[in-house]
Amino acid sequence: MAYIEMKHSYKRYQVGESEIVANNDINFAIEKGELVIILGSSGAGKSTVLNILGGMDTNDEGQVIIDGKDISGYSAKELTTYRRNDVGFVFQFYNLVPNLTAKENVELASEIVADARDATETLADVGLEKRINNFPAQLSGGEQQRVSIARAVAKNPKLLLCDEPTGALDYQTGKQVLKILQNMSRKEGATVIIVTHNSALAPIADRVIHMHDARVSSIELNSHPQDIDTLEY
Ligand SMILES: Nc1ncnc2c1ncn2[C@@H]1O[C@H](COP(=O)(O)OP(=O)(O)O)[C@@H](O)[C@H]1O
Ligand SMILES: [Mg+2]
Repeated sequence: MAYIEMKHSYKRYQVGESEIVANNDINFAIEKGELVIILGSSGAGKSTVLNILGGMDTNDEGQVIIDGKDISGYSAKELTTYRRNDVGFVFQFYNLVPNLTAKENVELASEIVADARDATETLADVGLEKRINNFPAQLSGGEQQRVSIARAVAKNPKLLLCDEPTGALDYQTGKQVLKILQNMSRKEGATVIIVTHNSALAPIADRVIHMHDARVSSIELNSHPQDIDTLEY
């Protein structure tokens, strides 16, 4: 069994009289330690998949296997424990707490798990050793995103889930952030899933899951993923 498997997963929303099918029979498998890109245009159902994998949302039908457990059958309480202990999230707009320093933002996450990484060391790992006492407003967008990656990583999550993590960043800064995420998979063995609409990012991933119109349209494996340094997009 693969580390992560979605099997015949459906998510439907009732909007007034009509039903929107956001995920329509989603099937894929992901191995431990992979860097995965879920690629598709706006509205394809990518965030819905990511939120279900992260226990932030639940599907209506189908299995969601994470490390041998089917989380689609979890109670709200079990999902809370799962999100807390096993999942790190990185969002497009960082979602940092404005009145806490970089270090305090990371500690906020690391304090809720048993074997967290040291906040200062984790910030140093993303190149922010000189910025630990700065508030979010004193940091650039790229620096804020690196704080949010440190916050996600400090929990030592099984899964690092990133929804359009470079969507608000310029080209060079976006590359720095992608390099950190690629290193998390290559050097730390973390399973990293990145949602994006930017097809130019596909070469950096071990696995690319293409989504179109609520379905998985194809899945590619890259046996030689490209280094971020040589990526042009
Ligand atoms: N809470 C919701 N209520 C109703 N429709 C939703 C909700 N969340 C997502 N959708 C719809 O589901 C579809 C897929 O959305 P989403 O997963 O966010 O796509 P993507 O991330 O690929 O842009 C879209 O048509 C979107 O409008
Ligand atoms: Mg989305």
